Order: sequence, then structure tokens, then C-alpha cells
Amino acid sequence: MFDKKVYQARREKLCKKMRSGLLLFLGNNESPMNYPANTYHFRQDSSFLYFFGLSFPGLAAMIDIDEDRQTIFGNDLDLDDIIWMGPQPSLKSRCAKIGINETQPLAKLEEILKNAVRLGRKIHFLPPYRPENAMQLEKLLGIQHGAVKSYASPDLVRAVIALRSLKSREEIAEIERALSTTAAMYREAMAMTRPGIFERDIAGKMEGLALAGGGQMAFPAIVTVHGETLHNHYHGNLLKKGDLLLIDSGCETGSGYASDITRTIPVGGKFSSQQKAIYETVLDMQLTAIAMIKPGVSYRAIHLKTCDILVRHFKELGLMKGDVGAAVAAGAHALFFPHGLGHMMGLDVHDMEDLGENNVGYDEKTKRSEQFGLASLRLAKPLSPGYVLTVEPGIYFIPALIDQWQAGKKAASFIDYAAVEKFRKFGGMRIEDNVLVTARGARVLGKAIPKKIVDLEKAAERG
Ligand code: GLY
Ligand code: MN
Ligand code: MN
Repeated sequence: MFDKKVYQARREKLCKKMRSGLLLFLGNNESPMNYPANTYHFRQDSSFLYFFGLSFPGLAAMIDIDEDRQTIFGNDLDLDDIIWMGPQPSLKSRCAKIGINETQPLAKLEEILKNAVRLGRKIHFLPPYRPENAMQLEKLLGIQHGAVKSYASPDLVRAVIALRSLKSREEIAEIERALSTTAAMYREAMAMTRPGIFERDIAGKMEGLALAGGGQMAFPAIVTVHGETLHNHYHGNLLKKGDLLLIDSGCETGSGYASDITRTIPVGGKFSSQQKAIYETVLDMQLTAIAMIKPGVSYRAIHLKTCDILVRHFKELGLMKGDVGAAVAAGAHALFFPHGLGHMMGLDVHDMEDLGENNVGYDEKTKRSEQFGLASLRLAKPLSPGYVLTVEPGIYFIPALIDQWQAGKKAASFIDYAAVEKFRKFGGMRIEDNVLVTARGARVLGKAIPKKIVDLEKAAERG
């Protein structure tokens, strides 16, 4: 948790932006895995954490801008809770740490909100992403749960995104703390990467280090020799010499800030010449993108530049042909790079995605493309100092996609399908780092994690 002044200042800025009305924030509750008492690890809602810092279930918060009142709703533990969960500080003392004096029992919330509805007051809330919070809003506001999202406040969504997008010094320090643990996770993973070990051995070690670092994984880790499957959470393969191991993972700090790193490691310690050629392409895409990052440049332009680099390399390798600009405009590169270059990162690994991808990554002047590949770009708008984002180009040979495009003769004037056939079993590669947009350029956050071929081979050889 930060000092209470941080939370006070955040709420003050929010009130200034919103000007009037009631702002309602629901915290998250425990979520059962397979029966009620067996719950997933508790994760507080990120906007709740941002403004109120309290990370335990059973809370709601209200800011009444017109009456200048801020209230946390929640219940103190009773003896039964204390027997099972141990003693906890009172709600009042916890609220003092975030600069809020007024607390109310949770049961009071309904009465207060019903009264506000009766008086015709404007109640702003964020779109719920957990069904139980949609149900709760139905109970509190009388809006049918299926319709609740459409009544969420666009003004509040905009205001929250504007504040959370600009990371302060203390937030950047938290992200770098997450990255420090992540560097240790990768150091260990690279040292373990060798023939005869299972993906799950490495996944388990990394998750253990995240826990030892005081947090959790920020998302389920991808540790796979089939990196061409973008969200591959299977960890059962045995590593063989010559495989590529793609690891996309990150952890959270205790206060909820994330990291999100990808490396692709040669099993056995040496890339083949084919692997080297593709790796050099991905690295060129990533380093060029990072060098282009500065305020005012649109992330779509940077994404498209990386597509351009892919096509140039692929022409040299004989995999693509024709005019580079025309190939990118036609989306031909997306056969090999079907996702976006990156996304915002902060308290969520895909920061604020619950508030709408387009609200976070696009603006009135930047409209989302419907073209395959470019449509998956989560962040496209011009960058501002204080943004933290990921830079994660990848190249994949996805047999089912190649077959579909080839059968339909898609982009046939730009792709040499006979040459692509030689890469059918290649798999996939991605390199991902987390970058802060500074006043004049960019800074790659965290300690360096090997990514040059020579450093990666050295790290994997030690295994
Ligand atoms: N780990 C999810 C992503 O890279 O976007
Ligand atoms: Mn990632
Ligand atoms: Mn990412």
C-alpha cells in the first residue's frame, strides 16, 4: 500500500474530473473454485485498489461529490471469522490508512443508494466484469443484471482511464519491483531449460518464485514448446534438443502491480540457422519499436513499422515477395504476426481492459481496424509520458492458418507458400518487454533479461 496521501490525491483528481454526482465502486468478493469454502486466491478490483488501496473482500466505496463525503462500506469481522481467519484490524483503522474517516455497515449501502435513486441523483459506476457484481448492482440500483453494463458511466470510465494511464513515480517503482522478481524467474527458467525436463517443471519453479517474491502470477504462465499457439497453457511437454521454449509470464507485487515478459529460449543452448534468422527478425522488430517510442507517436504507427520490418526480413528469407508497403497494407504479414504489438500495463496486466479495450487504447481520432491482425492491436493511439506498455512482437507458423490462407490463395502475391512450407513445424517466437514512455523517449523497465542471441544461448547453455 502507498501512503494515504497518494489515495487522497487520486480521489481528489477524480472528483475534479467528475465535478458532481455519486461515484460507486464495488470491491471484489471471494470466488469459489469448486465449492463455496474453497476459493481462488482473492484479487481486489484494480480501480478499487487504485482509489482505495484496501485489498480484502466485502467492500464497497462511495464518493458523494456534491456532499463532499467519502465512505467505505464493509463489516468488521465477528468472532466466527476471527476463529477461521485470525484477528484483523478494524475497518475504521484500515480506512484511516487511506484517508477515509467514514465507514458504514455494508447493509446500509442499499438504503443509501435507493434513496439516491428516489431523489433522481446521478450514480456513476464502472462496468462490472464479475457476474456477482452485476447481480449486486441489480439489487442496489434496480437495473436488470444483464443490462447493468449498458448503464455504466462513460464519464467515470473516461476519468478513471485518464488517471490510471499515467503512472506516477511510486507506481513505476512497484512495476520495477515486479520486474525484479520476474528477472529472477527468467534467470532460473533459462538455467533449467534443457532436454529431458518438462515444461511444468519450469512453470512450477517460476510460479514458486513469484509467490516467494510476495505476490502472485499476474496471469497464467505460458511455458511451451508450441509457442505458435498464442494462449497455450498446457505444460505437459518434455523438452527436446532443438525445441524453442516460449515463456510468457509475469508476477504481481503485493500491492497488485504487474509485469509481463516473454523470452524464447533454444533448448540445448543453440539456435539452428533457421531459428536464428527468425529470432533476428523478431528482435529487430522489438528494438526498432522501442527506439520509436516517444510522446505523440501513435502506437499503431509503431506496430505497422514492425510489420514492415517483418516483411523486409521475410523477403530476404524468400518467404515473402512484392512491395513491402503494399504487403503491410494488405495485412499479408499477419499470417505470421496475427496479434498486436502491445498493450498498457499497470495494476492489470492488460491494464483497464475491463473498462473497454477501445476506451483504453483508442481515441476519437484513432479507430480500430477490422483487418485480421491489426484488429487485435489493443493500443493504437498516440503515446503520452507516463504510459507503461508492452512491446511484444512475435512470429508464428500456425499450420491451420497457413493451410487456410493457402487454400484461399490469400495474399498470394506477397507470400511464397512453397517456401513457408519449410517452416511448417517451426513453432513460434515472441520477445516482450515493459516500457515507460518518458518526456522525450522511452525507458525499458526492470533489470535486463537476456534477449540478444549470444546472451540467450549463454544463459540456456548453463542449463
Ligand atoms: N501475457 C499476455 C500478453 O502478453 O498480452
Ligand atoms: Mn505476455
Ligand atoms: Mn503482454
